[in-house]
Amino acid sequence: MTRKTPVAVMISGRGSNMAALIEACEAPDFPAEIVLVLSNRYEAKGLKTAADAGIATEVIDYRGKGSRKAFEDAATAAIEAAGAELICLAGFMRLLTPHFVEHWRDRLINIHPSLLPAFPGLDTHERAIQTGVRISGCTVHFVRAEMDSGPIIVQAAVPVTAKDTARTLAARVLEQEHRIYPLAVALIASGKARRVGEQVIVDEDLSGLPPLVVPPTA
Ligand code: GAR
Repeated sequence: MTRKTPVAVMISGRGSNMAALIEACEAPDFPAEIVLVLSNRYEAKGLKTAADAGIATEVIDYRGKGSRKAFEDAATAAIEAAGAELICLAGFMRLLTPHFVEHWRDRLINIHPSLLPAFPGLDTHERAIQTGVRISGCTVHFVRAEMDSGPIIVQAAVPVTAKDTARTLAARVLEQEHRIYPLAVALIASGKARRVGEQVIVDEDLSGLPPLVVPPTA
């Protein structure tokens, strides 16, 4: 097995995407390993999940007592000390400054619960339902300074039904998040996803995948 890419995961809460990454990394042939889980909140539930899995955790909770820059400098120092070469934002709900984003350019990825560029920001599923979209989904992308933007690595789509609430749609999308985040990390760590300009080229033939059409045409 070739060397595994060391990864830091940044969380703010539940950490179910982080848990999906931890599980994927347990496979001997997975090309990445998690060296640090970093949270900006002490009460993030995912911290316990990570610690239970034997992963180093760190909390930098600067709420009310420090600048954004102080938080980010401390985060960069912790991530560099851990030797991480890729950062995965996994439900990390604090805006990052262009300075941090540029420092980690092309080594910083995020998962968002919509088919970006649709519905960046908060209340994604409510807005998707209110807009009446037939298909929603999730996106893993390289992070750029503007919120929830940057070159797209992987997307997964799910149907939106007339009965959906934000809760039921979130659950359907989350299931796909847990599939595509490990996939995106594997593609990057194995060198199969390359950024060319502001697009990501994936060196794998995906042409046999079935289309998702809602309502179905046949
Ligand atoms: C996930 O649905 C993730 O896509 C979303 O927060 C949730 C975190 O859940 N992230 C964003 O909305 C970022 N803009 P998790 O803590 O269980 O992974």
